[in-house]
Amino acid sequence: MVKVAERRKMENKIKQSTTFMTYYRCALMEIETKLKVLNEQYSYLEDYNPIETIKTRLKTPESIAEKLERRGLTYSLESIEREINDIAGIRVICPFISDIYVVSERLQQQEGITLLEKKDYIKTPKDNGYRSLHLIVQVPVFLQNKKRMMKVEIQLRTIAMDFWASLDHRLSYKKEMDPAITQQLHEELIACSNESAKLDERMEAVRNAIDKRRSIRDWKS
Ligand code: GTP
Ligand code: MG
Repeated sequence: MVKVAERRKMENKIKQSTTFMTYYRCALMEIETKLKVLNEQYSYLEDYNPIETIKTRLKTPESIAEKLERRGLTYSLESIEREINDIAGIRVICPFISDIYVVSERLQQQEGITLLEKKDYIKTPKDNGYRSLHLIVQVPVFLQNKKRMMKVEIQLRTIAMDFWASLDHRLSYKKEMDPAITQQLHEELIACSNESAKLDERMEAVRNAIDKRRSIRDWKS
């Protein structure tokens, strides 16, 4: 009971702060814009889009308070800012694996962006088969003449990796299932992840072969 009351109090504190979530919302807008400009540059210079889609999400006050409780962290706005990296989240879906690294590198070169953490689950997938490149970056946000450095979690994935992750996510939320079947599905998902990693590589090889031919043709004409 005490725990629930404390959590509710924290949720309300977040909701009542007029600027707390606004800073995170603006940080998301900053990163999203930088990514869109980057995509536009490629589109203009190379007639190619390394980004397929961008999805943004802000963690709800309920989910923030729940994470504080789960991790045994102090209930304060300062502790949230210091300890929770994924209040502002952005997912970047790219056609090919090489696009992920191009977008990641180009974003990090942008003025004002500081990389705090990188987890490469493409080079080293998780045991369950999860693949994606995760970055935690910091970006300055200016509000009411006050500058604050805000953290944003960026997940970069191919279309195939995103397809896999949404199925995995669906399974992780399915609680009322026979444990033996759950286990079997987890194994099947590992196999799917391996297949889809191979598919990503094969498709990229085809793309590279097409592009090589195209550049030779352009050169001839
Ligand atoms: P949290 O999971 O956010 O508490 O932090 P962490 O330090 O474990 O971060 P990590 O970079 O491993 O994962 C962050 C996010 O990536 C998660 O919130 C998910 O959105 C996504 N993610 C990580 N692992 C998996 C996975 O196995 N399956 C799926 N579907 N998504 C995952
Ligand atoms: Mg998370």
